[in-house]
Amino acid sequence: MRKRIGFIGAGTMGAPMAENLYRAGFPVTVYNRTRAKLTPLMEKGLATADDLAGAVADKDVIITMLSDDAAVKEVVLGDEGVLTHCRPGTVLIDMSTVSPDTAIEISQRSKENGVHTLDAPVSGSQNAAQSAQLVVLAGGDQHVFSEMSDVFAALAKASYYFGGPGSGAKAKLVVNLLLAVTMQGISEALVLAESFGLKREQILEMMQQTVLASPFLTFKRELLSRGEFPAAFALKHMHKDLGLITEQARTRQAILPATTSVQQTYTAALNHGRGEQDMAAVFAELLHQAGLY
Ligand SMILES: NC(=O)c1ccc[n+]([C@@H]2O[C@H](COP(=O)([O-])OP(=O)(O)OC[C@H]3O[C@@H](n4cnc5c(N)ncnc54)[C@H](OP(=O)(O)O)[C@@H]3O)[C@@H](O)[C@H]2O)c1
Repeated sequence: MRKRIGFIGAGTMGAPMAENLYRAGFPVTVYNRTRAKLTPLMEKGLATADDLAGAVADKDVIITMLSDDAAVKEVVLGDEGVLTHCRPGTVLIDMSTVSPDTAIEISQRSKENGVHTLDAPVSGSQNAAQSAQLVVLAGGDQHVFSEMSDVFAALAKASYYFGGPGSGAKAKLVVNLLLAVTMQGISEALVLAESFGLKREQILEMMQQTVLASPFLTFKRELLSRGEFPAAFALKHMHKDLGLITEQARTRQAILPATTSVQQTYTAALNHGRGEQDMAAVFAELLHQAGLY
């Protein structure tokens, strides 16, 4: 029998992920705090729940894909949270990007209820979620990870097991450090080009013929070119991740000078109301700081 899945959080990432699980043949029930976001999924045939209990009861696997640590703690550990509705033996997979400390806390509290957990955040944005080309970065018990291979195969082109609870969350922060710094590097190069009066589109095209060519640059090229930033990965979420990265680095005495500097740009962008835009809006922020926008 296919695993019955309760999916919580039908946001930018969660909605296409739930849809891919459904298309792969899993019986999926989706819950989202804001009910209106469930309508497109219902129209595609997915089952939805009116409340958390309806998405969790009698399921084999619960997946959460939520904004941040506070949301995951509230939804999983809260008074009427996921753990109060789960049967022992259920597998809870949190795929949100959260602190390794939160992942460990969730793992410990779940264990007390006989619930198995994986922290399994993903690399890849909305397009990768839609095309089931995500990369899963998992921590938890290895045998639980192995048992979930069919679930991950419906979402991702690759899944990696990094070790015990919190290891997936740690790996995700490693990836996002590079993503945030890369985004700022590309943006600063374009600011310099702009200050020289060079054509932005031509610079972007040329870069794709150099050793710096990358799928990431291809993905962000149109936004950078147009100077409009509808969110695939909201800047507020990358700002949140930079907070997690610098906090973790501080406690480990890891010195990350570029990351600390990049964090200031994301904070300024957030303060200038760019949080709901794509993370590529750091380019707009740097143009603004240079008096070019
Ligand atoms: N977008 C990307 O490219 C990307 C890529 C990799 C990883 N991530 C990570 O994946 C996670 C989800 O990202 P996303 O882009 O899908 O975010 P999103 O579009 O902002 O969706 C966030 C989801 O969390 C729910 N939520 C927030 N606070 C809640 C609360 N207190 N109680 C219940 N539900 C709550 C929202 O419900 P409502 O609809 O009711 O607000 C929504 O379903 C984040 O941790 C993000 O950092 C994102």
